[in-house]
Amino acid sequence: MADSTKNAAANTDNGSGEAGKASDGTAKKEGASVVFKLYCLAVLTVMAASYTVLMRYTRTVEGVRYYSTTTVFVTECAKMFFTLCILLKEHKGSIRKVSQELKGNIVGKPMEMLKMSVPSIVYAIQNNMTFIGLSNLDAATYQVTYQMKIPCTALLSVMMLGRSLSSMQWIAVFVLTGGVILVQGIGGEAVSHTTGTEGNYVVGLTALTIAVFCSGFAGVYFEKLLKGSDTSLWVRNVQMYSWGMLSAFLGVVMHDWQNVRENGFLYGYTPLVWLVVLLGSGGGIYTSIVVKYTDNIMKGFAAAAAIVLSTIASIMFMGLVVGWMFVMGASLVIAAIFLYGLPKTNTEKLPVRKSGTAQNV
Ligand code: C5P
Repeated sequence: MADSTKNAAANTDNGSGEAGKASDGTAKKEGASVVFKLYCLAVLTVMAASYTVLMRYTRTVEGVRYYSTTTVFVTECAKMFFTLCILLKEHKGSIRKVSQELKGNIVGKPMEMLKMSVPSIVYAIQNNMTFIGLSNLDAATYQVTYQMKIPCTALLSVMMLGRSLSSMQWIAVFVLTGGVILVQGIGGEAVSHTTGTEGNYVVGLTALTIAVFCSGFAGVYFEKLLKGSDTSLWVRNVQMYSWGMLSAFLGVVMHDWQNVRENGFLYGYTPLVWLVVLLGSGGGIYTSIVVKYTDNIMKGFAAAAAIVLSTIASIMFMGLVVGWMFVMGASLVIAAIFLYGLPKTNTEKLPVRKSGTAQNV
């Protein structure tokens, strides 16, 4: 993470409104290189793939079951910790400068802080819903349903950001969705599991449908706030994770407080659960970098590649059997990535309206 965050930090504004200058005072590099974008997309892809496989494994394996609400909270804390470390590095270790910048953007801009509560709370709901979804559905149903977030996010990007997609790119979005569904095996033809699930199907599916909308809306809203102002990515993240920690803690209180009081906050935390926290927090930070330098739709493409990879991992480690539909689906995913033209399209800024001003919130 260190190299990319250094690169990302060097590419962000210092949040002081001095557009055009990086925090170290040098001229700001215009845009990130294609190699850097590809690197971030690839890291996010691998992290998301391992996160999904591991999260599901830790939730379905026999033995002590940790409280997922506490994991969401600990992950928010970890993201806040990493973000503060990056900010500290950006300010060459000066705690005074970091606190000045944060004071100016948190206490000094209450409206901006309030706006960030929206994606943050919606993400907190989404993160809890995905845990419920994964605990109640088999991996294939989970992945197929969750992929509806690809067209959902594309549609919301067009509606909320005024972004326009060419016909070819719309085709790519649907080819991608179809490809992912095939990869995951509609009707269980492509992917058959050696083990069944004992969850509540309706609960799982409802939770996941909510997660799909939350993912699309929060992602696009975050992108709008990030790209519609001069505030740096890391300051935006501190604003967001402050709300995230608060809402995730409320989740613990509302859902697992009695259990936590009886057994402790970190009940059932094995090294693998800590790895889930690490992957979840790293994935979150990389998501924010990817959204800054590319966009939410491209993030969807990375996620699709993650599914192909996680299915391959499941074949290797969890006894998954795949058929011709997986091969066809994986080919469609790869074709869609090329059809869309990743990552050549520059979406680092919001589309400019006819009047010449970028869209603002
Ligand atoms: O499934 P989806 O890609 O929408 O999930 C995005 C994830 O990235 C969420 O878990 C969210 O908490 C995280 N995120 C983050 N920081 C951001 C934006 C998203 O941690 N700035």
